[in-house]
Parts: sequence; structure tokens; C-alpha cells
Amino acid sequence: MSVSAKNITRLFGSQKALDDVTFTINSGEIVGFLGPNGAGKSTMMKIITGYLPATSGVTKVCGLPVDEYSLELRKKIGYLPEHNPLYLDTYVREYLDMVGGIYKLTGLKQKTEAIIDRTGLTAEAHKKIGALSKGYRQRVGLAQALIHDPEVLILDEPTTGLDPNQIVEVRNLITEIGRDKTIMLSTHIMQEVEAICERVIIVNKGRVVADERAEGIASLKPGAEVIITVEFDRPCEIKQLESIEGINSVKPEGEKLIINVQANIDVRPAIFRFAVDNGLILLELSQEERGLESVFHELTM
Ligand SMILES: Nc1ncnc2c1ncn2[C@@H]1O[C@H](COP(=O)(O)OP(=O)(O)OP(=O)(O)O)[C@@H](O)[C@H]1O
Ligand SMILES: [Mg+2]
Repeated sequence: MSVSAKNITRLFGSQKALDDVTFTINSGEIVGFLGPNGAGKSTMMKIITGYLPATSGVTKVCGLPVDEYSLELRKKIGYLPEHNPLYLDTYVREYLDMVGGIYKLTGLKQKTEAIIDRTGLTAEAHKKIGALSKGYRQRVGLAQALIHDPEVLILDEPTTGLDPNQIVEVRNLITEIGRDKTIMLSTHIMQEVEAICERVIIVNKGRVVADERAEGIASLKPGAEVIITVEFDRPCEIKQLESIEGINSVKPEGEKLIINVQANIDVRPAIFRFAVDNGLILLELSQEERGLESVFHELTM
């Protein structure tokens, strides 16, 4: 178990930014942390990294409570904060040397050069951070989060502000790093989660509203529906089709049937059997993909 939050509540005055949040991220997992603006993602990440205390509850990283082991844990955690605060007046290489120095890294020069190379900063490393474009500043942020080879990475919107090419590169970098690290990343880009995360935690108004493996996302919401379009070679008995378990309703639309189905049941084999049993030829059977985006809307609107 690499990161665990148990009954975390965080108040700002009378506002509950986090309300009894509990989850566990296992060692080696890449988990996407989603939620609308103000849901509490950054607050939770600051608590995990020891930058902000919780009002109540216990957060552990590598089995150690963050409150008591904050200093030790900083060596094990790499953190890319929201808004990526950097010293604009320092040079990239100098800044990374400085960060490595804080961690008292041995072989610092080689480690700085290795991380510059790994984050694609070689051509920019001689510049002042203030002179870098937004995307390259984001890479410096990633480099400082990675330089001490942490076991756990907490990345608050790591691809914000990157161009489409850089997004792909940074995602690849995260996936590559993720092979031997535990990663929690927040993002507003659903494709990002679909591309790199094994698990998804969705928060809304400070509460966890979903915690699922990425492939189980379509069945997240009890009562969620999927639309299947079917066309047979001739009209069929709609009432009989509607009696199949999992089918909510069937509506004819031209030659086709629009079938509303419970998302957690795959009714396609039963529809195929229905066609065979009734001597119908199946001309079309297509299921609308119910992606993370629609689940996100349903859970957080
Ligand atoms: N230091 C603070 N003082 C007062 N309120 C705060 C503070 N930090 C966060 N909040 C409030 O807590 C709530 C959660 O904020 P948080 O930054 O965690 O959201 P978020 O999920 O990261 O949102 P976004 O997607 O916009 O980054 C918000 O209502 C925010 O205004
Ligand atoms: Mg945030």
C-alpha cells in the first residue's frame, strides 16, 4: 500500500474542502484524480505531500503517517504542485542542482543531466526559467519532481498548458516512469485518464463519488444507461425484445430499433440469440461507447 487516505476532512473556515475522503492507492498504480473545479483535488494532494495538514483523518505514504514523517517522506515523494511555482530568475540547470542539493543527492551533476535529458530540456537548460515557454516550465516542474527518484509521484495537472505534441511526450514519460512508481495525477483531460491511468478516483464537492478500475468505468453509476442500435431484416416483436433482462426500452426509428440498456449488463449476446430464435437476420448491432466523460458529467453535475 503506497498512499492511503482515511476519513480525511479539511475545513477552510466553515467550508468543507474535503469531507470524509477515504481511498488507497497501491504500490505501482497510476491513478487519475478527477473532479470539477473546486472539488478538492489540489487540497488532497497538498495533504498527501505534507504541505497542508488535514483537519481530521490520517494520510499515509509508504505506510508512514504524513503528519509525523513529513521530512522523511519528502525524500520518497515527488510533487508537481498546481501552478508549478518556480524561481523565474534562476537558470534551469542551476535550479535543478539546487533542488537536488536540498535532497543531498550524491552524484548530483550526473543526476541533473540525466533528468534534463529525460524531460526533454537539453536545448533549454542554459536558459533562465523566466525565459522559458509555459510547456518547458512545466517540464522543469516535472524534472524537479523526479530528480530524487521518488517512489511516489503526486502530479497536479501535469499536462496543463502543453501543446499537443508535448502532451503526448509528457504522457509517455509518465507511463514510462509509472512502470516502477506509484503515481497519482489530477487532470481535466478525460483522454489523459483513459490513455494512462489504471484507476480513476472522482471527487465532487469534497467527497469521493467514484473509485473504479479504468475499464470498469462504464458501469460506474448504478442505473447508468447505454444505447444500442439494432436493425433486423424485418420487423420483430418489440414486447418480446423488451423482456430481455437488462433492456429498459425499445423504440423504433425508421428501419432501426433504439434500445436503452442498463450499462452494467451486456445484452448483445441475448439480442443475437433473440434474432436466431426468431429467424431474423441481424443487419446492425452497435453499442454507443459510454466514455469517462459522460460518467464524469453524471456524477458531478
Ligand atoms: N487556502 C485556502 N483557503 C480557503 N479556501 C481554500 C484554500 N484552498 C482551497 N480552498 C477551497 O477549497 C475548495 C477546494 O479547492 P481545491 O483547490 O482543492 O480544488 P481543485 O479540485 O483542485 O480545483 P481545480 O480543478 O480548480 O484545481 C475550493 O472551494 C477552494 O476555494
Ligand atoms: Mg486544483
